[in-house]
Amino acid sequence: MVEINGKRLLSDLHRLRDFGRTGDGVVRTSFSDIDMAAREWLRKRFADAGLAAAIDGVGNVFGTSPNPGPALVLGSHSDTQPRGGWLDGTLGVIYALEIARAFAEDPGTRDLAVDVVAWIDEEGTYTSCLGSQSFVGDLSDEVLEHANDGGETVAQAIARVGLTGVARAALDPGRHVGYLEAHIEQGPYLEELGDQIGVVTSIVGIRSTEVEFIGDQNHAGTTPMNRRRDAGVAMFEFAVRLRERFTAIAGPTTVWTIGQVRLEPGAASIIPGFAAAHVQYRDPEDERLAALEDALAGVAADVAAATGVEARVRRERDPILPCDMDAGFRRHIAAAAERIVPGGWREMPSAAGHDPMVISHHLPCAMVFIPSIGGVSHDFAEDSLEADIVVGCEVMAEAAASILRG
Ligand code: GLV
Ligand code: MN
Ligand code: MN
Repeated sequence: MVEINGKRLLSDLHRLRDFGRTGDGVVRTSFSDIDMAAREWLRKRFADAGLAAAIDGVGNVFGTSPNPGPALVLGSHSDTQPRGGWLDGTLGVIYALEIARAFAEDPGTRDLAVDVVAWIDEEGTYTSCLGSQSFVGDLSDEVLEHANDGGETVAQAIARVGLTGVARAALDPGRHVGYLEAHIEQGPYLEELGDQIGVVTSIVGIRSTEVEFIGDQNHAGTTPMNRRRDAGVAMFEFAVRLRERFTAIAGPTTVWTIGQVRLEPGAASIIPGFAAAHVQYRDPEDERLAALEDALAGVAADVAAATGVEARVRRERDPILPCDMDAGFRRHIAAAAERIVPGGWREMPSAAGHDPMVISHHLPCAMVFIPSIGGVSHDFAEDSLEADIVVGCEVMAEAAASILRG
């Protein structure tokens, strides 16, 4: 069995947590100063592991093994949500680093090639899965114009951090045979069912729609109720009706979230003349997502008619299609899990998005999950048991070795 150094693994995870640490959580959104400092630390750490390491032209940290292929790419993202947990993404990056080190130390695995990556902006501060889009050659000029909440575009961020014109890591079909990522589950199932490992079968599709209501701004005291065109009223009516409509269409695992709303001008004594909401919905079936998207437009139109305000609906980003993990890789992971935690693993879909959503259309991908305590993630309280963290890395290392040995 590949010998993972659990102490070194945990120590590096904690060191990376220090970049942007806020209470128990981490604030390290992509292209922030602290994110770039963390990337520079990772670059050095990858180099110390014997990899040819560089921060590429979009901010990915990529470490190439000196061994000839076939190579597996292992990794995850090192950016976080605006108020993120310490393991979301980070876990998979440090696993990949530890596996590269463990392979190099063991004569039985020394010849195997693993390239290690810390993707940038999986979390979508500017555009989701930016780094992996670049790696597979999907990065369009249009995506480079996507902006963060402060209005800075991807292209401007790249220039600000001094990466304009720097070469970008690229999938090499003559070398790369697949991509493996480990991640915390971010949901409750493994913990509740008493399993230590999840072998991911598929990743849900995701669509996002922005809805705007345009009414009349006016005085909150002097405007009679029957003369108002209140964009805020329309927005709240929309949220309630959307829940009813989506519930009627939803499958067993459909989820939706209104995670961001804006009322303008946002003052207690002013009737809002403008309201906007971001609605995100996820499901394993793209047909259902299309039906939800149509229903959402219908609800917005109905609310506009009922409240006398104008409604505008637009897709925020291209739909992210549901995708399957590679069946052969899954068998390797399942076999490794059965050796290390007999009976303590299960196959399961991912309800969270991950870079394999992008990569799996170009390269076979698979994912390993470990339990999240209380199913909490995208929150400072996110955590996992140390024993689970170490076991997950052992399973991933065994699976990577057995895939590369063929
Ligand atoms: C990724 O972080 C997601 O929101 O699923
Ligand atoms: Mn996340
Ligand atoms: Mn993640």
